[in-house]
Amino acid sequence: MIDVEEIEGVGRVTAQKLREAGYNTARDVAFASVKELAEILGSEDRAKQIIAAAQKLIGLTPFITAYELYEKRRGIRRISTGVKSLDELLGGGIETKAITELVGEFGSGKTQLCHQLSVMVQLPEDKGGLKAKALYVDTENTFRPERIMQMAKYRGLDPQEALKNILYARAYNSDHQMMIIEESKKIIEKENIGLIVIDSLVAHFRSEYPGRENLAERQQKLNHHIAQLLRIADIYNVAVVVTNQVVAQPDVFFGNPLKPAGGNVIAHGATYRVWLRKGKENVRIAKIFDSPYHPEREVTFRITEEGVVD
Ligand code: GTP
Ligand code: MG
Repeated sequence: MIDVEEIEGVGRVTAQKLREAGYNTARDVAFASVKELAEILGSEDRAKQIIAAAQKLIGLTPFITAYELYEKRRGIRRISTGVKSLDELLGGGIETKAITELVGEFGSGKTQLCHQLSVMVQLPEDKGGLKAKALYVDTENTFRPERIMQMAKYRGLDPQEALKNILYARAYNSDHQMMIIEESKKIIEKENIGLIVIDSLVAHFRSEYPGRENLAERQQKLNHHIAQLLRIADIYNVAVVVTNQVVAQPDVFFGNPLKPAGGNVIAHGATYRVWLRKGKENVRIAKIFDSPYHPEREVTFRITEEGVVD
């Protein structure tokens, strides 16, 4: 909320007149009609000028892109990653009604980001969250409540409350993982879940269906799983974040010798794909790939005691 006093060109006297007439915030003024304000301020020009200043102050511009309109109509919400540059890269944060895939080598920060998002989703909307809970599906036993507590503290949340707002499920094999997601439908609304994390999406599938001879069956199952996730994301307006490993492409001599595991099924299923790389020490580099809406730009962030930060 921005007070009328902060509008450019509004002094003490004008602010008082506005407040007496019931205009307390910049938003109130931004949406006022010129005629209404002219009566209060005694001049049409002055009213126009102040309305324009208020609109600028709250970021109201006459145009939005058709894509923004499309998102608005679909009711898409966003969760901040807690990292400014990464949010910018993602167009404001992790989207609901979509699957965001975090791909990268070991230690690239996938699990750390999953932890952080489970905290961020709990924040109120004006702090980048959805004031909602997270459902965390852990397949590799790498979830650490202590880490959540550190991150929560840094973001101004009560650490123990933050833990209570994360529903945790350990998935022991791919069937179990799919069953957990199937079951999640029953609790998403009741528990006010805003984010579903699966770390990792593919690990069980890869170890249970090794080699070429099992590839078709594996991909079919994975396809079903991803379709299910997308449906849940869409119906319940929740964000789904999954992690994926990279595998070596032995036949690539030029360019990147690594590629995401899971093949076409994930490539087509994931709405957004974020590639994470290790930089020096605690620096990590992120870029979005395979997306028509995002520039192929790289941003950096760091992993520290406080969590994932600028
Ligand atoms: P895999 O699951 O092995 O593929 O890796 P990942 O991409 O999930 O990596 P992860 O998110 O686990 O990142 C690990 C990195 O985060 C390590 O390099 C650690 O240095 C760093 N890290 C993890 N926990 C902490 C912590 O509590 N404090 C700090 N400062 N760094 C941490
Ligand atoms: Mg991990």
